[in-house]
Amino acid sequence: MIGLYIHIPFCRQKCFYCDFLSVRYDIDLADKYIDSLIKHSQKFKSRKISSMYIGGGTPSVLSSKQIQKLLTFLSNIFNLSKIKEFTFELNPESVSKEKLIILKEFGVNRLSIGLQSVEDKYLKYLGRIHDLKTFCICYDNVKHEGFDNVNIDLIYGLPNQTIDDWESVLKKILLFNSDHLSLYPLSVEKNTIFYKNGIVADGKLQSKMYEKSVEILEHAEYVHYEISNWAKKNKEALHNTNYWRNLEYIGLGASACGYLKKNRYKNIENIEKYINFIENGIDCTIENVYIDEKLYTAETIMLGLRLLREGLSVKCFNSPQNKLTLLECLKERTLIQEKDRIKLAKKYIFIFNQIVSKFM
Ligand SMILES: C[S@@+](CC[C@H](N)C(=O)[O-])C[C@H]1O[C@@H](n2cnc3c(N)ncnc32)[C@H](O)[C@@H]1O
Ligand code: SF4
Repeated sequence: MIGLYIHIPFCRQKCFYCDFLSVRYDIDLADKYIDSLIKHSQKFKSRKISSMYIGGGTPSVLSSKQIQKLLTFLSNIFNLSKIKEFTFELNPESVSKEKLIILKEFGVNRLSIGLQSVEDKYLKYLGRIHDLKTFCICYDNVKHEGFDNVNIDLIYGLPNQTIDDWESVLKKILLFNSDHLSLYPLSVEKNTIFYKNGIVADGKLQSKMYEKSVEILEHAEYVHYEISNWAKKNKEALHNTNYWRNLEYIGLGASACGYLKKNRYKNIENIEKYINFIENGIDCTIENVYIDEKLYTAETIMLGLRLLREGLSVKCFNSPQNKLTLLECLKERTLIQEKDRIKLAKKYIFIFNQIVSKFM
């Protein structure tokens, strides 16, 4: 049983902060890309899939016909009989009833909607092409079609955003009562319009906003199960949780990453080259890193500590060096032990990087 991630690198327009691989949607290029995805999938034919995630870019920008074709082939190529979670990412402006019905028909049981902000002025500032009203219509349609596991993505710490502004965003988002919330601090990445415009994120303010989120969402009965993720009871994202459990997954599509047989890989980032390589039977991976025992342990600790409630087994801290570091962290209470699980103390989430670096 294994996870499957598929990257759809098309969007209607590039957002000013986004560094993920995506180009403007073009129907012909997307047709060719889907054919390549289908061909690439054959390499993993009949693998039993436990969770699938179609992300981007903007998967919902594909036409109904393209979505139908992709899902038809995927369900023929992979063994989806035991799939527990099938997520599809949506952008508010490119959702239609027709697309939602197709997704439902093919077993998609979780949707992730990129909203980013509830204020139209900020949506504009971020380079988003939807407004809050478009999101509301999209959300109504999603609920009307019977989807009962829906995530909303938001970004906080935008320039000029105050803590009060963020608190008001959170209060508004609670009105939608979504099953899951992913909250990300704005990160200004190279090759983005924000970076070129010299926008700087205020880390200190973002920490305070994060603290506010923890407080407000706890009162709203969301389980804070991962550093950036909150879920209603039993609505934790399984596919992503398996990344944090350091389990294997297949990555299909340009720029997608995968982790198979102790090898972490990344596919070529150029869409035309990806299509060309796949069509000509050339290996499309550009990075392959062998994960030896030492690296595996370091990654397992780094990822597992992100799971705030689940933590990781004490057995992962096996080497004398890690045992010593663990004792030190338990003593200073940055990590806590509950039965055989080691967890990050909530109070120290802000210095997560500092804590995990001790095990690297
Ligand atoms: C890969 S994006 C794709 C989602 C979808 N296309 C959308 O834009 O709504 C996944 C999420 O990452 C977050 N994200 C992307 N770039 C970010 C950045 N520079 N800083 C913080 N969050 C970011 C956004 O919340 C976004 O919804
Ligand atoms: S944030 Fe989403 S919609 Fe915007 S450019 Fe990135 S992937 Fe596309």
